[in-house]
Amino acid sequence: MLSMLKNMSLVMTLALSFSSFVQAEEAKKVKLTPNLEHGAELHKTCALCHGRWSQGINSGRYPRLAGYPEPLLEKMLDDYREGKRNDIAMIVIGKIKSMSKQDYADLIGYISSIDLKKQNVALDIPTAPGDVKAGKRLFKGDCKSCHGRDGTGNIKKGGFPLAGQYTPYLKKQIKLFMSKQRYHDNDPDDETFEDYSPADLDNLLAFISTLDD
Ligand code: HEC
Ligand code: HEC
Repeated sequence: MLSMLKNMSLVMTLALSFSSFVQAEEAKKVKLTPNLEHGAELHKTCALCHGRWSQGINSGRYPRLAGYPEPLLEKMLDDYREGKRNDIAMIVIGKIKSMSKQDYADLIGYISSIDLKKQNVALDIPTAPGDVKAGKRLFKGDCKSCHGRDGTGNIKKGGFPLAGQYTPYLKKQIKLFMSKQRYHDNDPDDETFEDYSPADLDNLLAFISTLDD
């Protein structure tokens, strides 16, 4: 009898801790309402490198961020916060690690709301050299499923936007993936770029550079 009671209390403790776990998980999902004005204020620091409207500058030394879907921006920043990606200057000056959750939401909401077409900035990504048609075939076969038909990203699959991003930046990231300094698709064993020749890569980038900004 005593042991049965003990078992019951164990089951109850487990059930309780499970329900508080579920509650904590639910809490994580609660979406804070972004204060865009405050986000714009915080963004001034980011603008030092990413440009007044986060349009990206210096041929992609500083990547474009404007208009990206919020969940994808959040994932990008989380990767820096958690040390999966590294860029010391950005983390320190951007103060990514010390921001409150609300600041984070405000900033992400603001950057996502920026519509570059309404701003007076040069948008065109110059067409990169390479065989656009061959690149298109590669993209359709190997990239479209996660990065979207038009390269604007896929929230469900977590594929970041590629259209409108500077070619040298994309190339730099692919090189990081190839050398496993960064994990593509969050997968250390990812083989997406394994069989790509330098010409394949150029063709792919040439095609991506033609996608609408
Ligand atoms: C000192 C310059 C600097 C500042 C300030 C800065 N960044 Fe960055 N940021 C960079 C550089 C350089 C990269 C590319 C690093 C890399 O290749 O991983 C980058 C990359 C990013 C990326 C990844 C984009 C992608 O497509 O992968 C995001 C998101 C980002 N920054 C957001 C921000 C935000 C938000 C702020 C302001 C809170 C900010 N950055 C401040 C320099 C900066
Ligand atoms: C199975 C899904 C999947 C496929 C297929 C895929 N990707 Fe990705 N890719 C992702 C995910 C998820 C991310 C974002 C997470 C990460 O890796 O940092 C990403 C990120 C990227 C980035 C970094 C962008 C940035 O702004 O930081 C580049 C570049 C990229 N992929 C290129 C490609 C290309 C080119 C192809 C086709 C040859 C491809 N991907 C195929 C899922 C995929």
